[in-house]
Amino acid sequence: MTIKVEQVSRPLGGELEVPGDKSIGHRAVIMGSVARGETRIDNMSAGADNSSTVAAFRRMGVQFRREAGTLCIEGGGWDALQAPPEVIDCGNSGTTMRLLTGLLAGRPFDTRLDGDDSLRTRPMKRVIDPLTRMGAEVTGQDGRAPLEIRGKALRGIEYVSPVASAQVKSAVLLAGLQARGETCLEEPYRSRDHTEIMARGFGASIESAGRKVVVKGGQELSGTRLRVPGDISSAAFLAVAAATIPGSDVSILSVGCNPTRSGVIEVLRAMGADIEMTRTWDEAGEPVADFRVRGGVLQGTEVQPELAPRTIDEYPVLFVAAALAEGPTLFRDVGELRFKESDRIAAMHLELSKMGVKMEVRGDDVTVEGAGELESASVESHGDHRVAMALAVAGLSTRGGIALSNEECVKVSFPGFFESLGKIGG
Ligand code: S3P
Repeated sequence: MTIKVEQVSRPLGGELEVPGDKSIGHRAVIMGSVARGETRIDNMSAGADNSSTVAAFRRMGVQFRREAGTLCIEGGGWDALQAPPEVIDCGNSGTTMRLLTGLLAGRPFDTRLDGDDSLRTRPMKRVIDPLTRMGAEVTGQDGRAPLEIRGKALRGIEYVSPVASAQVKSAVLLAGLQARGETCLEEPYRSRDHTEIMARGFGASIESAGRKVVVKGGQELSGTRLRVPGDISSAAFLAVAAATIPGSDVSILSVGCNPTRSGVIEVLRAMGADIEMTRTWDEAGEPVADFRVRGGVLQGTEVQPELAPRTIDEYPVLFVAAALAEGPTLFRDVGELRFKESDRIAAMHLELSKMGVKMEVRGDDVTVEGAGELESASVESHGDHRVAMALAVAGLSTRGGIALSNEECVKVSFPGFFESLGKIGG
């Protein structure tokens, strides 16, 4: 389907919430499914990716039920998990596939994991390698899905990961929780630490310091009750929309602001954005805040490589912020964007250039020239939810608006995205 996004005629305004954090939601469902006792999760996103994880555990015999807005899981411990009758479809969700590979590598049965065309192109060798060293038997098609996992007794390892990836780290930790001995992982930059925080909430002990994390094997998890904070990766689209339209004043309430995720706020502030945290508190061990974003004219900046893991999903919309800013913005070392739901460098380059934006790619560095007002165009999401939402935000500042095709993929992480944009005046 195609949706028309018109240029706004007046500043954005209002107050709203975004769906529960997708990353945290996956982890809550995964751990609740192998914990002993009941787990109750509030504010679980209805996005397609989180639903893929729920469906996967349903196929392995885990009982879920909804009580008003709460997702309840009847956990029977690691050993209650049953071999699924057929292949598990992870849909579009890399987190589902990579984290389940780690978890299932240590279960005493065989599984097959598959996904959509996009997921079948994504690199799985990065999880297969460390898991194989732990004694797992995981085979793919040239390092890609479909994956076949033959469950084995695992042993702890010391692993220095070549990529700063929370999915790799989490796959190894989920295997490590079941392994004999201790597992230690070190990464080049610190990635999001939701798995560590969530596991502690379920009673496990995981030690972390800087870029290193250590877990002892043979740990049981106990069911718990938690509320998933709003997703900063979804809030980022509304924040950039508000920050780039002068005079806007938008409050986004109850958003997770874990420092391993909040690079987008730092980058926008470095560009001169007016973003205030009006209230902060903790939920499920995660820091949460209400954000107030006021619009103005942003300035180009240089985004350093160490920000990449903390900002990784927000680059598409930051490219849009840069296109609407004054002067160039240099994004350093963002090569990982090529391995997301689409090649996000190629996709954003192609689509933004249709809107008159100059974007230069040199190796893994990307420079976006501020274009001021953008040109009307017909653009395409490449089936990638974050590309679709980034382009929609660009459309709000485009004379004559844009036509965005293949927009339904926003349901992967932010069902109701267009309604939310409408609610604040888009
Ligand atoms: C995620 C980690 C990141 C991120 C993805 C979600 C997670 O991927 O891009 O959207 O929930 O662990 P990588 O681990 O590949 O960097």
